[in-house]
Amino acid sequence: MADMDDIREGNDFGLGIEVEKKSFYLKGMDNMDWGMKDRLSRVFNKKSGRTVMLAFDHGYIMGPTSGLERIDLNINPLIEYADCLMCTRGILRTVVPADSNKPISLRVSAGSTILTELNNEVLYDIEEAIRCNASVMAAMVEIGGKHEASTVKNLTRLADLGAKYSIPTMGVTAVGKDMARDARYFALASRVCAENGSTIVKTYFTEGFEKVVNACPVPIVIAGGKKLPELEALELCYNAIQQGAAGVDMGRNVFQSENPAAMIQAVAGVVHDNLTPKEGFDLFETIKNQG
Ligand code: R5P
Repeated sequence: MADMDDIREGNDFGLGIEVEKKSFYLKGMDNMDWGMKDRLSRVFNKKSGRTVMLAFDHGYIMGPTSGLERIDLNINPLIEYADCLMCTRGILRTVVPADSNKPISLRVSAGSTILTELNNEVLYDIEEAIRCNASVMAAMVEIGGKHEASTVKNLTRLADLGAKYSIPTMGVTAVGKDMARDARYFALASRVCAENGSTIVKTYFTEGFEKVVNACPVPIVIAGGKKLPELEALELCYNAIQQGAAGVDMGRNVFQSENPAAMIQAVAGVVHDNLTPKEGFDLFETIKNQG
C-alpha cells in the first residue's frame, strides 16, 4: 500500500506514472499554504530567489527624514525598479499610485518616535493590511531591549493573524540598546523571530553573517542602515547576498544616494544578477552619467 512518504519521494511503485517531487523555491516555505506562497512569489523573484524591497517607512518614527520629504518626487520614480515596497499605510494611501502593481510590505506596528522612547509599539488591525492588499506585514521586534516581551507578543499575534489569512509576516529586528551588533546577537534575534512565526526576517549584515543565515529557517533580508558611499553600500549588499541573504530591504542607501534611480538598479544587479560590487558600481556610474 502506498503511503504519502513514498509518494512525496517520487516512488511510482513500478506503475510508470511520473510522480513529480516539487518543492517551493524559498527556504522553509514548503509547508506553507497556497495563499502564502502566492504572496511570497510576488515578493521574491523566482529566478534569483531574492528580492529588492525599497524601504521608505522611516517617516513613522523619524518624520520627513532626508530624501523622504517628497515621496511623490523622490520615491515614486523608483518604484518600477523595486520588487516590493516597504511603507506605512499613510504614505501608501496618500502618495503611492494604486496602479503601480507592486507587492507591499506594510509596516503594521507603530507607537513611539525618535523624540521619545523607540520601539514601544502596538499592532494595526489585520483588516487594514487586508484592505491595503499587503503581501507582507512587518512588525518590529526588540530582542534584548526594554520592549522585548511586548514586541515578541506583537509578532506572535501577527503571525497568528498572518496564518489565518495567509499573509506572510516579517519580523524586523530592532537592536536592543545594549546589544552588540554581532553575528551571535543577530542569529539569536533572527531565530527568535522565526521560532515565533515570522515568514521572513529583516536584520542587519555583520561579520560572520553566514552563521545568522544558517541558523535561521526562513529567508532573511537585510536593511541597509545609515547612508554609505555607493561602492561601500554595494559591497554590503554583495557580502550579504553571497553569504545567503534572500535580498535587501534598503532605504537610505537608495533614496539618499546622489542618484537614487541608478543606485537601486545597481543594487538589483548585485542582488539578482550576482554582480560584484565593482560591476554594480560601474552600472551605477553608467546609469548616472546617462543623465
Ligand atoms: C526603519 O525605520 C525601517 O525599518 C527601514 O525600513 C529599515 O531600517 C531599512 O531602511 P534602511 O536601509 O534605511 O536602514
